[in-house]
Amino acid sequence: MKFLIINGPNLNLLGKREPGVYGENTYEALCDRLRSFAAAHGSTAECFQSNHEGAVIDAIHAAEGTYDAIVMNPGAFTHYSYAILDALKAVSVPCVEVHISNVHQREEFRHKSVTAPACVGQICGLGLYGYEAAMGYFLSAPSLS
Ligand code: DQA
Repeated sequence: MKFLIINGPNLNLLGKREPGVYGENTYEALCDRLRSFAAAHGSTAECFQSNHEGAVIDAIHAAEGTYDAIVMNPGAFTHYSYAILDALKAVSVPCVEVHISNVHQREEFRHKSVTAPACVGQICGLGLYGYEAAMGYFLSAPSLS
């Protein structure tokens, strides 16, 4: 399976940014771990990160026909980007949304995801493991359904 891992704004600062909320592992360490996890399951994972909404939209468009599944943490775009919602609806590649923190334990504005309705499901609060859990879903779902 070919995975595209998309991370939105400020997630390039993992490890430096609010480590009490997002942990001490860097973005590079996350990508290494996800590439290894994919390889261990006979799959590949490519990581893409941008602080720009349009670049995230372009990456979603380009996933059509190239990747089997998207695992995306849209960062703060989650809470207001109808353009990313529409981009997900415009492609047939399934997406699971991931949040490192438990957004429901945080500020009210983080409780709402405008992008999740276009996703198969959403994982939050499991730290970086959430990305692997999302990949595991795509790897296991066919045998469990
Ligand atoms: C986040 C939660 C968002 O509210 C926040 O804006 C982020 C990270 C998370 O992974 O917990 O940038 O998506």
